[in-house]
Amino acid sequence: MSKEFLLTDSEFSHIVDLVYKACGIVLGEHKREMVYSRLARRIRSLKLSNFEQYLDYLELNKDKEFSNFINAITTNLTSFFREKHHFEFLKKTLVPKLLKENRATKRVRIWSAGCSTGEEPYSIAMTLADMFPIGWDVKILATDLDSNVLEKANSGEYSANSTTGLEPEILKKWFFKDKQGENYKVKPALKKMIHFKRLNLLQKWPMKGTFDLIFCRNVVIYFDKETKEGLFNNYANILIPQGHLFLGHSESMSKEQKNFNSLGKTMYQKIK
Ligand SMILES: C[S@@+](CC[C@H](N)C(=O)[O-])C[C@H]1O[C@@H](n2cnc3c(N)ncnc32)[C@H](O)[C@@H]1O
Repeated sequence: MSKEFLLTDSEFSHIVDLVYKACGIVLGEHKREMVYSRLARRIRSLKLSNFEQYLDYLELNKDKEFSNFINAITTNLTSFFREKHHFEFLKKTLVPKLLKENRATKRVRIWSAGCSTGEEPYSIAMTLADMFPIGWDVKILATDLDSNVLEKANSGEYSANSTTGLEPEILKKWFFKDKQGENYKVKPALKKMIHFKRLNLLQKWPMKGTFDLIFCRNVVIYFDKETKEGLFNNYANILIPQGHLFLGHSESMSKEQKNFNSLGKTMYQKIK
């Protein structure tokens, strides 16, 4: 069947190149269909006729269109308490460790890097919320490249469908129903633990302080080895000595990565 819009090999390579340079995501030939269908939506909404016109439009309107282009390409699949064992380790092992080791400063900083629509940072917040005594300063920075997902994350509003995995008492404790009684909204007490910000992991980071823990799960899966290793080195620089890094279930570090020890189950600890 002929396609609605023509996408030539050279246009596809141009898109692959633009995406890689902007955010490190590697799009192989097997992603051609995905690229086609996601960008076809942009072409339709801009009332253009083909990919050639879209790429010209993108070139001439970088300020306006480039974030839509990147938003269309990113894959944002996520869920509450995804990879449950990470949250169990956080609760049972890391919280007691932080309570002991940070007792002088009473300060804990966690980064959810590539937070998508917010389920990950809210799951971290729900895990930590009642674990620290009053007076402790526990904050989560949640960042993503995609401005659409960040907007949703910041709204803290989720459909009944996306909250089905949550235990009823957790849902009752941390969410309330919206006025229509359809969606669930995160309660302010949880929301105030998180600061959402747009950040491209491959650009300069504005953060000044260090982090105790970093969650960067199901993000580097789209990066090549060089980009991944560079990012892991930067994580090592911004983590406290012996700080922890969580990756996604199909992600790992190469043997050459000397900054971290593997703790198994895609959990890593900075060496010094
Ligand atoms: C599949 S989601 C993972 C969400 C969550 N961490 C989880 O594991 O459920 C990957 C996220 O990484 C973000 N991402 C990809 N490349 C990025 C980059 N260079 N800088 C920041 N975020 C990026 C995407 O926008 C997307 O929201």
